[in-house]
Amino acid sequence: MVASGDYSRREFLGITGGLAAAVALGACSNTSGADRIDPRGPEVSAAEAARTRPGAAVTALDLTASAFDLALGSLVAPTWAYGDRVPGPEVRMRAGDILEARFINDLPVATTVHWHGIRLRNDMDGAAHVTQDPVPPGGTFVYRFTVPDPGTYWFHPHLGLQLDRGLYAPLIIENPAEPGAYDRDLVLVLDDWTSGIGDDPERTLRTLREGGGAHAQHGNGGGPSSEALGGAGGDVAYPLFLVNGRPPEDPALLEARPGERLRIRLINAASDTAFRFALAGHRLTVTHTDGFPVEPVTVDSLLIGMSERFDVLVTVAEGSFPIVAEAEAKANRALAYLHAGGPELSPSELRARPSELDRDLLDLAQLKATAGVQLPPGRPARTYRLVLGGGTDRYRWTINGRVAADAEPLEVRAGEKVRLVFQNQTTMFHPMHLHGHTFQVVEPTPGGPRKDSLMVLPQQRLAIDFMADNPGQWVLHCHNVYHQEGGMETLISYVR
Ligand code: C2O
Ligand code: CU
Repeated sequence: MVASGDYSRREFLGITGGLAAAVALGACSNTSGADRIDPRGPEVSAAEAARTRPGAAVTALDLTASAFDLALGSLVAPTWAYGDRVPGPEVRMRAGDILEARFINDLPVATTVHWHGIRLRNDMDGAAHVTQDPVPPGGTFVYRFTVPDPGTYWFHPHLGLQLDRGLYAPLIIENPAEPGAYDRDLVLVLDDWTSGIGDDPERTLRTLREGGGAHAQHGNGGGPSSEALGGAGGDVAYPLFLVNGRPPEDPALLEARPGERLRIRLINAASDTAFRFALAGHRLTVTHTDGFPVEPVTVDSLLIGMSERFDVLVTVAEGSFPIVAEAEAKANRALAYLHAGGPELSPSELRARPSELDRDLLDLAQLKATAGVQLPPGRPARTYRLVLGGGTDRYRWTINGRVAADAEPLEVRAGEKVRLVFQNQTTMFHPMHLHGHTFQVVEPTPGGPRKDSLMVLPQQRLAIDFMADNPGQWVLHCHNVYHQEGGMETLISYVR
């Protein structure tokens, strides 16, 4: 087997068809000889015009990022947030409408806003240094784009480790054509928390680069591991895990009526934690993955990686029930609770570990996109093999042996079907995320779910297809922000 570091440039070039020179991520200019489509180019405007219907409604959002003191039970965490709350203000709008977000940066550092999972115009994607210059402190930026596809999305900064400070919020795109299979819709945002109460993210990354220390849970191999993750749970030991910005000692209470059908939209906004989710006394019918419908599957629990979303339907039983998101292989959990008649839960009942967590865990192979969202049939026009490599040694994480700064853009042409084959040669899982597209999982099972983030487990090989229908320069990276900062990022580059 080829070690990731030996995955040679020559072999890579053979696969890509001869891209002559590496292009630093961020330099979208043409240094390779390829005729790259500019994020502000005419192709991007044309794609946006084709998505925009005449008379589309505009949802206006005033969004400010600023310093904020978050109350976490008995603690106060000085942090950064959108709109003085964590999660930030939920945006809810209808598919086909236009979002106009007037963003003000009140932070002491430059930032951007990335609209995770949205098939939007490339110049509004918020990828710092790739699609826009960061918004300086005191600066403003207007993000304006059509939101074409219904689903559960979210937004967060796309610069450095800022996501790990509480800058995130749900973006819910409603489907006007959807049959009412539920009575009410709830959003649960999961997060791992250190900002203001533990080490700040930059310090944590420095420690990881210096070789572990108190922050690395597994360092060079120790620490708890998870069968479902095929290895360690992460690199960072967090003091708290939150549901909707609240710690277990002060959990969010969801009031419901027995028999009510809830659509629960789960969003994992964590930086280094996968959660195992269950609702005590209930089964979960999974209906959507990363916003797109799947043939419904009913399970007791599911694992949700960083940046993934699952929509589940539950029929509320009578009583009080803990809602548990266990930090996988981190021996800690985030909590909320559901109250549907009867007495409230005592603190010890609330802390009891629901047996659902150990039963009937959702498996990727069970998920199939619905007929309406299958990709068109046909063989891919090109295939890229992406070896995920590196590790905690020097804290370098690579794609095909390269860190982001040396990445070879993966060229595509508009209209093609493109296949990406991920091969994880590391000992950690990587939630790989592609901007601007929702791919379909095609291996191990053809016809798999539509997603924009996919957990690739250690030693696993998975393949996805996507339609290159959204011209521009799009980053593809691991959504563990520490791995992303450690280099696990490349570029899908549309060329003419
Ligand atoms: Cu959630 Cu590159 O993004
Ligand atoms: Cu990773």
